[in-house]
Amino acid sequence: MNIAIATARGIAAAHKDVPGGLLPALHGIQDALGHVPADAVPAIADEFNLSRAEVHGVISYYHHFRATPAARHVIHICRAEACQAMGADALVAHARKHLGCELHGHSRDGEFTLEPAYCLGLCASSPALLMDDELHARVTPQAFDELVAVARSAA
Ligand code: FES
Repeated sequence: MNIAIATARGIAAAHKDVPGGLLPALHGIQDALGHVPADAVPAIADEFNLSRAEVHGVISYYHHFRATPAARHVIHICRAEACQAMGADALVAHARKHLGCELHGHSRDGEFTLEPAYCLGLCASSPALLMDDELHARVTPQAFDELVAVARSAA
């Protein structure tokens, strides 16, 4: 058994007797592996005594879960109401163009993954984004380009 599947099975086994344990298990697997590998789904289903389709359904319902590894940098742009009112859609459009990818995709250079978020807790300073573990408020397209340039130049 490969190590990713063994890791996923171990995390699933630790949650299988907890009510509603599938979601925390999937979070744990993604935290440990950076994604939830498709070939780990049978092991997860086996531990929870669910069908593969049921597990796959949960993974695909929640956009948070990735089937493939993220890029080195992950950018979450908030698309919730307050940020929408302050230009989040335009910011997302700018980010897609600048990075050359869609939401849930990777930039042309493979350095960035672009994801939506639904409230980052900075509603009073919208539009907001999360770059890796750092929150940024009142993000303009120009500020976005600068953040990307700084991340790109970081070792
Ligand atoms: S709505 Fe975007 S941070 Fe709350």
